[in-house]
Amino acid sequence: MMQHGQPTRAWKRRGAGSLAHAKEEATMSTTFTSEPQIPMAPTVARLGVPLIAQAPELRPVIQLDHTHKTYTMGDVEVHALRGISLKINKGEFVAIMGASGSGKSTTMNIIGCLDRPTRGKYVLDGEDVSEMSKDERADIRCQKIGFVFQGFNLLSRTSALENVELPMLYAGVDGPARHERAMDALASVGLTGREQNHSNQLSGGQQQRVAVARALVNDPALILADEPTGNLDSRTSVEVMEIFQRLNRERGITLVLVTHEPDIASYASRVIVFKDGKIKKDSTVAKPRVAAEELRKMPAVVDDEDED
Ligand SMILES: Nc1ncnc2c1ncn2[C@@H]1O[C@H](COP(=O)(O)OP(=O)(O)OP(=O)(O)O)[C@@H](O)[C@H]1O
Ligand SMILES: [Mg+2]
Repeated sequence: MMQHGQPTRAWKRRGAGSLAHAKEEATMSTTFTSEPQIPMAPTVARLGVPLIAQAPELRPVIQLDHTHKTYTMGDVEVHALRGISLKINKGEFVAIMGASGSGKSTTMNIIGCLDRPTRGKYVLDGEDVSEMSKDERADIRCQKIGFVFQGFNLLSRTSALENVELPMLYAGVDGPARHERAMDALASVGLTGREQNHSNQLSGGQQQRVAVARALVNDPALILADEPTGNLDSRTSVEVMEIFQRLNRERGITLVLVTHEPDIASYASRVIVFKDGKIKKDSTVAKPRVAAEELRKMPAVVDDEDED
């Protein structure tokens, strides 16, 4: 939703062409619209094996300590975050809610190492990232974080295959392995045969699926999703939530998801509500909805019959 003072994401402000910029591009991703399946690249092949749900470990992946963020626009200071202290353990699935302008995306940008707090500390997986340089943060993003945003962010005039290979290039995976893993990931999101298409030769839904394959191909420890179902119809939203729940339960990936929709938040196991740059409420969901069960109950989508 466009609001006054709509945030400019940190990656939009960076100069094109820099290594940090390219790495950012490579680690950005978004949602997809149909038949999502989890990539089966070698690093993620274990997804195909039914696994027992993993309980969250009591090891913090995200630690924000009295984090403040102030944006300066000319003479005006906007206090987007006014002291956020938050601990998210490995394997948690957290939904962030709150009114527009309450600081959700600002927090996600900091958690995702796209931006730095003005004051206060941010420790990611045991490393203090508050003081890291842009390049160091780009490395961390590449290694540990997959992004799923509402709008997709593929490199244009670059094939689907190359887009998916890019994060692995920066992670130092060798050529043949990159190719194989990218092909597997694209196949798993239903894009076999489209590997050589450029972004502008794919539909929006197909581009989004490419972006998902790209986000998952480096096997991230943490997935950040900012309104991932914002542009999706209800069935596709449940499909996306089913993927997220599988990634979380089967692979123990920590998930932080921003949503305005209470229905979507109820798939998470913890809901944090923001208000005016602070945390207003932090609660555990006793019985999260199970997307896979809901999908089974939904009627299949069929085309209308043409009338003669
Ligand atoms: N780059 C920026 N420059 C100046 N002000 C900003 C910037 N980004 C965010 N803000 C301001 O910071 C506050 C928090 O913004 P933020 O984007 O975090 O809200 P949000 O909770 O994500 O809202 P929404 O639900 O509309 O996405 C708002 O007042 C916003 O206008
Ligand atoms: Mg936002």
